Amino acid sequence: MTRIAYVNGRYVPHREAAVHIEDRGYQFSDGVYEVIYLHHGRFVDGEGHLARLARSLAELKIAWPMSRRALAMVMDEVVRRNRVRDGILYLQITRGVAPRNHAFPKASDSALVMTTRHLKFVDPTVASQGVSVITIKDIRWKRPDIKSVSLLPNVLGKQQAEEAGAYEAWMIDDKGRVTEGTLSNAWIVTGKGEVVTRNVDGAILNGITRLAVLELARSEGLRFVERPFSVKEAKSAREAFATGTSCFVKPVIRIDDKPVADGRAGPLTRKLMQYYADHIKQPAGMGAA
Ligand code: PDD
Repeated sequence: MTRIAYVNGRYVPHREAAVHIEDRGYQFSDGVYEVIYLHHGRFVDGEGHLARLARSLAELKIAWPMSRRALAMVMDEVVRRNRVRDGILYLQITRGVAPRNHAFPKASDSALVMTTRHLKFVDPTVASQGVSVITIKDIRWKRPDIKSVSLLPNVLGKQQAEEAGAYEAWMIDDKGRVTEGTLSNAWIVTGKGEVVTRNVDGAILNGITRLAVLELARSEGLRFVERPFSVKEAKSAREAFATGTSCFVKPVIRIDDKPVADGRAGPLTRKLMQYYADHIKQPAGMGAA
């Protein structure tokens, strides 16, 4: 079956999907994106992703390429044409095509592209194997709260992790505190059994999975707090994990060369994995098929 991409109003074979060389996303990374998981034909937390998209666009003063309703229809159509039931939808909006000039163009239409691919959700009973993370300096710009396509530090960090045989790199701020991973939010469970993730202080992306997991922790009566934590604290934590659209809830069992506790997925992490699996499978939410 031919993969289909959406490019500025057209559904085209994926291998032929292309944008103009003067698209400002290509030249200036002047654009934003979202990655949304789809379970059994339904977008997981679709409304949350679109709300964050609206915020990212507003922060960068990029116009919506179409109404929100129309965008949701294109999302459904991309999924339908690719017959994806469980997978990832990627959507990117840039300020559009204009002769190269740093300042915003007087007139340009925002550009929209979308792709989708299959990605099976692996049930936590099968997938409680943990991953390693390395720690690296957070060298990003001061607006990582915007989901912009400007991801070079994240790319370099993830590459460094891969070269070190690790899954992720946790980025560290000037005060020795963990901000987040290159494509996921970072969490620990303290010796007192408290679930901790950094508060939304402008130094992290407010992950939609992060928000879902916080809500699950709240509704299940777990003790949790949103605050920064240091690398030192993470290395002596009882448990650690990462959350994100493409990694769901993933146990972290090693930070640099230090195993987290006994080096196995901890009980609270497993609980949250199960709660999140149930959340993903909920029939609620917007969307496709
Ligand atoms: N990454 N932090 C960063 C820097 C991210 O890039 C992401 C997501 C997250 C988690 O956010 P969410 O739970 O909304 O996926 C946190 C996506 C998946 C990506 O770039 O592929």
